[in-house]
Amino acid sequence: MLAAVLGLHAATGATRRLRDGRRVRIRPATPRDAEAIQAFVRGLSDATRRRRFFSPMRELPPGLLERMTAADQAREAVLLVLAGPAGEESVVAIGQYAAEPGSPACELALVVDDAWQGSGLGRILIERLLELARRAGFARAEGDVLPANRSMVALARVCGFDLAHNPEDPTLLRIVRHLPAARAPAARAAHREWLPAPAFGMPAVAR
Ligand SMILES: CC(C)(COP(=O)(O)OP(=O)(O)OC[C@H]1O[C@@H](n2cnc3c(N)ncnc32)[C@H](O)[C@@H]1OP(=O)(O)O)[C@@H](O)C(=O)NCCC(=O)NCCS
Repeated sequence: MLAAVLGLHAATGATRRLRDGRRVRIRPATPRDAEAIQAFVRGLSDATRRRRFFSPMRELPPGLLERMTAADQAREAVLLVLAGPAGEESVVAIGQYAAEPGSPACELALVVDDAWQGSGLGRILIERLLELARRAGFARAEGDVLPANRSMVALARVCGFDLAHNPEDPTLLRIVRHLPAARAPAARAAHREWLPAPAFGMPAVAR
């Protein structure tokens, strides 16, 4: 049922046609994606990397990369957007959420390749992540954004997030989206059913 709601299949993912006509595939990350994820991060512009990681990080540290592709499925999710011919696909966007154990809120982050920004991918990813998080029983999705990040601020507003200054770090904006309640037991079961073994996500949203 969840796969139908999300329009995704665990093994093959879902194909989407963007408004500019380009086609992409969206599916959960697996350990086999580590190299492709690293190549994606290396290919981002400095500005995009800084907006996503709040640092000039040129590539993901090995531990972080491993956590991104092999994580606790109950609390985390990582979705990849892929483009290109079968067998030669590359990652063009990554969206993820992660939560501390027992937390009612998950932290959400996403990044779209520079050449793919403005095509609607950010919105598609956020909407899918919010639906996954809701189905997983989270009450809120939150995230930190640089105030100068006009694209993400606009996207957050469009997707129904409230914006405020982060009380722990006034240099950042905190975005918060309350999620309508899902029936917890069914949601947890459906979430697990959909998630492919062995991995789907990362324990902490990377900066
Ligand atoms: C922020 C980011 C994820 C947005 O993704 P995107 O694919 O470029 O955004 P979309 O094309 O889905 O835009 C969706 C909506 O957001 C708004 N929006 C996005 N970029 C905008 C901009 N520069 N100015 C105004 N509105 C904008 C628009 O309402 C847009 O809808 P529309 O195109 O129908 O008008 C992407 O630009 C990115 O990866 N930035 C660098 C990393 C980052 O900032 N991550 C967020 C912090 S975790």
